[in-house]
Amino acid sequence: MSAISNIETATARVKQLTAQLNYHNQLYYQDSQSEISDFEFDQLMHELIALEKNYPELKTDDSPSQRVGGTISKSFATVVHAYPMLSLGNTYNEEELKEFDQRVRKTIGDDVEYVCELKFDGVAISLIYENGKLKTAVTRGDGVQGDDVTVNAKTIRSIPLSLAGENIPPYFEVRGEIFMPYKEFEKINIEREETGEAALANPRNAASGTLKMQDSGVVAKRKLDCYVYSLLGDNLPANNHSDALNQLQKWGFPVSATFEKKNSIDDVGTYIKTWEQARFSLPLGTDGIVIKVNSYAQQNDLGMTAKVPRWAISYKYKAESVATILESVEYQVGRTGNVTPVANLSAVQLAGTRVKRATLHNANEMERLDLHEHDTVWVEKGGEIIPKITGVDVAKRKPTAAKIEFITHCPECHATLVRKDGEANHYCLNELGCAPQIKGKIEHFIHRKAMYVDGIGTETIEQLYNLGLLKTVADLYQLTFEQLMTMERFGEKSANNLLQGLEKSKQMPFKNVLFALGIRFVGSTVAEKLATYFKNIDALKNASYEQLRQAPEVGERIAQSVLEYFGKPENLAIVAQLQATGLQFQTNETEVIKESDKLQGNTFVISGVFQFFERDELKVKIESNGGKVVSSISGKLNYVLAGENMGPAKLEKATKLGVKIISETDFLEMLK
Ligand code: IVH
Repeated sequence: MSAISNIETATARVKQLTAQLNYHNQLYYQDSQSEISDFEFDQLMHELIALEKNYPELKTDDSPSQRVGGTISKSFATVVHAYPMLSLGNTYNEEELKEFDQRVRKTIGDDVEYVCELKFDGVAISLIYENGKLKTAVTRGDGVQGDDVTVNAKTIRSIPLSLAGENIPPYFEVRGEIFMPYKEFEKINIEREETGEAALANPRNAASGTLKMQDSGVVAKRKLDCYVYSLLGDNLPANNHSDALNQLQKWGFPVSATFEKKNSIDDVGTYIKTWEQARFSLPLGTDGIVIKVNSYAQQNDLGMTAKVPRWAISYKYKAESVATILESVEYQVGRTGNVTPVANLSAVQLAGTRVKRATLHNANEMERLDLHEHDTVWVEKGGEIIPKITGVDVAKRKPTAAKIEFITHCPECHATLVRKDGEANHYCLNELGCAPQIKGKIEHFIHRKAMYVDGIGTETIEQLYNLGLLKTVADLYQLTFEQLMTMERFGEKSANNLLQGLEKSKQMPFKNVLFALGIRFVGSTVAEKLATYFKNIDALKNASYEQLRQAPEVGERIAQSVLEYFGKPENLAIVAQLQATGLQFQTNETEVIKESDKLQGNTFVISGVFQFFERDELKVKIESNGGKVVSSISGKLNYVLAGENMGPAKLEKATKLGVKIISETDFLEMLK
């Protein structure tokens, strides 16, 4: 039975929800304001998605529900650009900029106006609008043809799906840059670090990688953003670039407020100087500015060379670089045995922050830099957030300074380090005997995104490890109350907490268990895909390389890593022990994804027909927020969730027993 029995009511509600969601979205992304909470926004979205599920005929290509993704694209279709996507010539100093100005003036005379913009560091996108609606989003590709990434681009909330306003041409293209804001980049990397996944290299790669992901649901979670910087098409309602940018802004496109008109190349110079430092306060990376001739007629007269327009050029800022002293090199051993060299530096100020450490990546990088003790090194922040050493001031090196060689043995367990074929990293292979690897694996196992074991943290793991009680993750489930009581600062309560935490973790679904095992390259998303695809550990354990490659998101690297993991008897032993302990090694189809504990300890009976949700949707909602759904009304029951047409007998019984009767709206209130 459908939630809304009447198609007209549903149509009206879908229309209303669409308008509300578009309004709040636009308010948030264009005016940086919000009138409702994220929760309320999500509730409206959820209601729309539920209605569209019931009435697929009401779902449109520009519905706000497209923002949450959910489509899987195994490959992207190729689209030929109606207008080639050009690149820009670069200049690096005032001289080259003046030469550009002279070339422009030679063709079009001295009546020239420029528009200066920042050069956003992301990935170029072409957005095609037909009849006021986003039709296709295409990557730059080779400039002539690119990939159709429409489903992914639609999840970017600042990109309008349908336009409002006047003079909207029936067909036009908008070009812009999709980027990952610093904040989002840092947030994702902190999470990845916590879960032992490799950090995303820099916001630009993160943006282009995300835009090409197969699962648009994952893209939606990654909060990409976009700035548009050009309008293309016939009969445009503008005859110069700055009017076009203003028009785009009015139609609802995200235009960075940083663009300015300038009357001379000297004024362009002022713009460049103004933004040289100020750009560090912007939410995204920028690596220069773009100077464009404003008038379209003049742009036309100037034309273009094979690859770049003659009416625009970029000016690249020099990456800020400072000199400091290399104090020492230390080596960190990760959970997977990877050994990373890190430089400790005398603290210096760089691009707005105080820098004390820099990554050295691996032995190749150290060799390239030819580091000697106490070298004076140049440090830069590129697109990355973590600074890197770009060179050494050899003139400042003392003749007696010794060369720093990459270590040959693990700094923790002294095993000989190995460099695997085709890899730049050195590894300590003493998985079962190297402290940071053992502790790292256990920390990963108990992590919130993995087994979520309450009552244990880094310090406890350290102590238990030192006492010789933890050698593998399976040992966790063998811990006894008496053993725990021998630990420092561990009372009865802490011991019981930990044991209960472990017991509770046995209910964690298969996907969490799989992630918790810490198989290299199997992050939480991949673990979820593998769990859903293979359903149980035996199928996964016995899968061939080809079978693994059939699973979504599984490429060569992941498939190899899974094979390698299950090829090791010691890993099979750990899995067997965990299985014997009672962990979940198969998917339970009715698995519930936890949203909150708001309904913890409350029981519900669902009765009647509801306006916004199906009954089984309500059941999932209750369970995912910690509540329980039961079938019969008793004195112990907390709530009857009552829809329309609730049976009179049930109503009478609930009233008699004094059970609280709540409506769908009351229920949504409880979740706020
Ligand atoms: S205009 C014909 N404006 O830089 C002009 N490009 O090197 C084409 N970019 O592929 C581009 N910010 O991805 C323009 N404000 C801006 C830009 C910008 C970043 C990127 C764009 C383009 C590349 C060209």
